[in-house]
Amino acid sequence: LRILVIHGPNLNLLGTREPGHYGHTTLADINQSLINLGDSLGLEVTTYQSNHEGELVDRIHQAASESIDGIVINPAAYTHTSIALRDAMLATNIPFIEVHLSNIHRREDFRHRSMLADAATGIVAGFGGTSYLLALRGLQDHLYQITE
Ligand code: DQA
Repeated sequence: LRILVIHGPNLNLLGTREPGHYGHTTLADINQSLINLGDSLGLEVTTYQSNHEGELVDRIHQAASESIDGIVINPAAYTHTSIALRDAMLATNIPFIEVHLSNIHRREDFRHRSMLADAATGIVAGFGGTSYLLALRGLQDHLYQITE
């Protein structure tokens, strides 16, 4: 199975960005642990980060033409605002898990709403970098179930 992991805006700054919320792990560390876990589970994991909404939309469209089986996405701040990302996920119809490092529900009210969550297979939030690894395991499980 081929899995695309998408990181939204400001996540390139992980490691130094608000460590109280996001910890000290860098994006490179997270990507490496995703690739390692993917290897041990027999998944081909590709990672992508952009600070630009339109580029994220383009990458989601590209995933459909690359026959990506599932997407793990942390839309970051666009979670709370982006109808464009929501529509891109709906248009490509690829199963996806929404991920957040922090528990968005114990933070400001404006972070409680997600534009994507009701279209997601599942959501993982609050476990720091481990949220991504839990999402990858959950997504694999889901993909096996629907292909059986
Ligand atoms: C985040 C939570 C968002 O509210 C925030 O805008 C981010 C990161 C998280 O991973 O906890 O940039 O998606």
